[in-house]
Parts: sequence; C-alpha cells; structure tokens
Amino acid sequence: MTTFATMEKATQYELRLADRMSRLGTETAFEVLNKARALERQGKDIVHLEIGEPDFDTPKNVVEAGVEALRKGWTHYGPSAGLPELRQAVAEDVSRSRGVKVSPDEVVVVPGGKPIIFFSLLSLADVGDEVIYPNPGFPIYESMINYLGAKAVPIRLHEEKDFSLDVNELADLITDRTKLIILNSPQNPTGGVLNRQDIRDIAEAIGDRNIMVLSDEIYSRLIFDGEHFSIMSLPGFKERTILLDGFSKTYAMTGWRMGYGVMRPDLAAHMTRLMTNSNSCTASFTQIAGIEALRGDQSSVDHMRTEFQRRRDAFVVGLNRIKGFSCRMPKGAFYVFPNITKTGWPSKRLADALLEQAGVACLSGTSFGAFGEGYLRFSVANSLENLNKALERVDRWTKQNL
Ligand SMILES: Cc1ncc(COP(=O)(O)O)c(C=O)c1O
Repeated sequence: MTTFATMEKATQYELRLADRMSRLGTETAFEVLNKARALERQGKDIVHLEIGEPDFDTPKNVVEAGVEALRKGWTHYGPSAGLPELRQAVAEDVSRSRGVKVSPDEVVVVPGGKPIIFFSLLSLADVGDEVIYPNPGFPIYESMINYLGAKAVPIRLHEEKDFSLDVNELADLITDRTKLIILNSPQNPTGGVLNRQDIRDIAEAIGDRNIMVLSDEIYSRLIFDGEHFSIMSLPGFKERTILLDGFSKTYAMTGWRMGYGVMRPDLAAHMTRLMTNSNSCTASFTQIAGIEALRGDQSSVDHMRTEFQRRRDAFVVGLNRIKGFSCRMPKGAFYVFPNITKTGWPSKRLADALLEQAGVACLSGTSFGAFGEGYLRFSVANSLENLNKALERVDRWTKQNL
C-alpha cells in the first residue's frame, strides 16, 4: 500500500481508477509469500506452507511434449476456444470421468482455471444478481462477484459436517434473484469433499429452477477417501453446470497456465468471445502438452496423490498433538484446516505470529472469508521433513506462548 501511495505522489497526474477497482479482492497466499520472502532476506529460516501448488515437477512426458511442440512451430495464435485436438481430448476425459456425454463444442480451453471463474461471472451475473458461494472458500469467488457488482451470498461450510454445507441453509439462501451457485469439491481451503449424497441433496434444493452451477473441480483427481462426484453427472444438471477443471494441480502445471470449462454450447460460444476479447487464445504449445497430459501415462498423478496422502496423515496427527489445535482428516486436495479456537488467538494474529516468531508460513482462515475465523490453512505440498520441522516449531511456539 505504501508503495502505491508513494507512486501516486511522484506524479502530478492523480490516478483516476475506476470505482470497481475498490471492490476487487486478492489472494492472501501471494501476500504471505512476499512477507515470508522478505523475512528470508533478513536471514530467517521459513517453512513454506502457505502456497497452494504441488511441489512436484511437471511429468517428464508432458514437458517433452511441450518442448517438441515448440520445435515443431506451435508458436502461433490458435482458435480462441482451444485447439480442436485438445478440446476433443478434454471431452473424452470428462465424458469418461463424469459419466456424461460431452462433445468438443462444449469445451473452452483457457489460461488456468481462474479465467473460467471470471468468465462465468462476467457472462452470467448482472449488477444485483445473487451468487451463492462457499465460505470459507477460494477468495477469488467473492472478489470477482463483488467486482462485478453482483451480490455475494456466502454459504457456510460446517466443520462438524466435514466441511460440507447444510442443505437447508442453502435452500433458505436461494431466491428469485439467485443466478449462480458456486460449488467446490474437493475444497480449498478445508479439504472437504461433497459426496454423492451431498450433491444429490444440493440438486434437490435447486430443483428445476433456472439457476446455473459453477462446479469448481480443479482438485478432482486429488481425492483420498471416497470418489469424486460431479453435479454435472445428475440428470437435468448438465445443461445448468459449468464444470471447471484443469492441469495446474493434477499434473503440477501451475506455471503453464492452462485450464478448461465444460458447459452447454450456447454458453461456450459466449465464453469463447470473452477469450477473443481478453487473451485471444491459450498458448498453443502448452495445449499440445495438455493432450499428452490427458492421454499419456497417469502414474505421476497416482504418485502425487499417494505422497500427499502420506503427508496429510502425518501432518494431521502431528497437529492434533499441539496445544489448542484440533484437526479433521481432510478427504481431498492438499490442504489441512485445523480449528485453533482453543488457542484463544484470532486466526490472523496467530498466522502472523507463527510466521514472524516460529518461522512457519501458513494462512489465516479469514483469508477465505469471515466463516474462516477460528482456523488456519496449511498446505501439505512440501516435503515430510519440512512438515515435521513446521510441526516442531509450532509446538514449541505454543508451549512458550499459550
Ligand atoms: C478452488 C480453486 N479453483 C481454482 C484455482 C485456480 O487454478 P489455476 O491456477 O489453474 O488458475 C485454484 C488455485 O489455487 C483453486 O484453489
């Protein structure tokens, strides 16, 4: 903030921002990362459990496919909706995994999963329209809803329900102005998973209303207990679902920037226009690598999942031994979300203290919305050695300070 103020003073021209910029939020993970890096520059040793990305490299076969594509000249513009070959591969993959027939004209390839969130809201939510979204939840939902002047309607996730929502509360929140409901399973930040029955109950609460569902399934392949189930698979819901999935988490491709949405073709045409207006297209050589990711050897996905599960198990056991912490076993994604109310500390203060005094970077539950108070989020996308180091540090800190 200080930097912005200083920059503004340095010029005679006042920065005349659009009003809507004051409504745009952010992702705290990147701010905490910067703060942690600043502490490291001062010589402090920090264990990084704040950022949500796999610590694995992109699988070799995928990297090779990308390099080969560059050599072969896949360096030009491509169709805004994505290369037909990748859209075909996505359609086949989603048809198989979600058990519904999907065709390539229902697939829009975009740079990462995030643009599907933005484009869904841009194309569906008018000023004043209500959008229901999980809280605690991925902060970009609320940020984008507010940015567009739509009405953000949080639905609380309950720890005692393994961070699922209460379907009666959902039913009460649905009004004539509800335009979109955002679901996220496996969930960031809680690791909660909506099982088949949860999804059926949600579908029943929606009934036959003309409400769209943005189903954020970016962690669909990172499930430890049970199976992934999409609302898109339920009769009558394919037409009303925008499925968001991608490559970032499943194939450790966060920096490649590639994701996709699956939706009815008439909406896909509008999202494609948004792509034409914003990015033109997703990088062509990355899309060739994406085909290899989907169709090639999947053992690296299995390996990552097994490894995350081992770390989750060890970290949750360790957290539950720490004074004031109690943690459920998350069923998916690579986050754990302990309850810290018994420490007597508010989440943000505790997260700051752990970073500054214990050298452990994590996120306050409130980075994910008001209902995140009383929790912290740790990412287990780090080595067991570092996770154990973090546990020792937090344990020592609580013994000295609580
Ligand atoms: C729930 C959720 N949705 C979407 C995304 C965005 O993924 P991408 O990096 O592919 O844009 C993330 C990334 O952290 C996420 O946690």
